[in-house]
Amino acid sequence: MNNEIKTNEVFLSAKKLRREFGSGDNKTVAVNDVDFEFRRGEIISIVGESGSGKTTLAKMVLGLLNPSGGEIIYEGKRRDISSFAKRKLYWQNIQAIFQDPFSTYNIFNKVDAVLDDCLRLQGFVQLSKEEKFEKMKDACQFVNLKFEELSNKYPFELSGGQMQRLMIARIFMLKPKLLIADEPTSMIDACSRATILDMLLKLRDEINMTIVFITHDIGLAYYISDTVYIMEHGVIVEQGTADEAILHPKSDYTKRLLGDVPKIYEPWDFSKAV
Ligand SMILES: Nc1ncnc2c1ncn2[C@@H]1O[C@H](COP(=O)(O)OP(=O)(O)OP(=O)(O)O)[C@@H](O)[C@H]1O
Ligand SMILES: [Mg+2]
Repeated sequence: MNNEIKTNEVFLSAKKLRREFGSGDNKTVAVNDVDFEFRRGEIISIVGESGSGKTTLAKMVLGLLNPSGGEIIYEGKRRDISSFAKRKLYWQNIQAIFQDPFSTYNIFNKVDAVLDDCLRLQGFVQLSKEEKFEKMKDACQFVNLKFEELSNKYPFELSGGQMQRLMIARIFMLKPKLLIADEPTSMIDACSRATILDMLLKLRDEINMTIVFITHDIGLAYYISDTVYIMEHGVIVEQGTADEAILHPKSDYTKRLLGDVPKIYEPWDFSKAV
């Protein structure tokens, strides 16, 4: 819907990206020769039913899973994350928040250590304790968390909503170029869900971050996205602006998904966000 963003450069793209699991009769082609382009500041949604290959695609973009074929082009060159140093540099710019916030954290790290790790990843090792605390407090403030109340807690001592916010605080500190949000809001209630979306969109505006939302929710995709990709069995069956892909779909699959969403035209109410 924010079509002016379309003029921005493509900084990450994929050609014929493929991932297979297993072999012989047990072979699954989770991602089947897909092409895509992500631009700076763009909001993208990848929509598809369970098992369509969304998380597998995300993990390849993140460098957590090797492709079986095809290539990822990052900043004009074939992506190279072959060494630890190169991966570290890549992860300064390419980050994710996952479906299950519990899986994101090392359970033995308290909140202050989680945030301190972000400073380390960015190379802020020389800062004094006070300077570090300032940065951590700023990040917590951005997501309406009180650093003093949480710094000494373990992630499992936080509520689901607090944990989601902590994930966004990490992103605020890291300021990546690309954030992949794999169903980040499915575990929490509708009000927190709107708040979290609001925070992510604010971050997009502030730092021109690209966000890829991975979701089952085609209505949500319509309201927040510039570009929508629809996946079915590892294949991108529809792509375009939110209006093109969702209001004027070409594929039968998209039409069927839309048939399951009778209230797609009902606007989201972000004003209830706190
Ligand atoms: N590590 C793995 N080993 C074997 N098969 C896998 C593995 N990971 C994913 N798959 C298979 O690849 C396909 C795509 O899985 P993926 O997790 O990418 O789907 P998804 O679109 O993210 O689904 P959901 O919406 O449920 O999260 C599925 O058939 C899945 O069983
Ligand atoms: Mg998934």
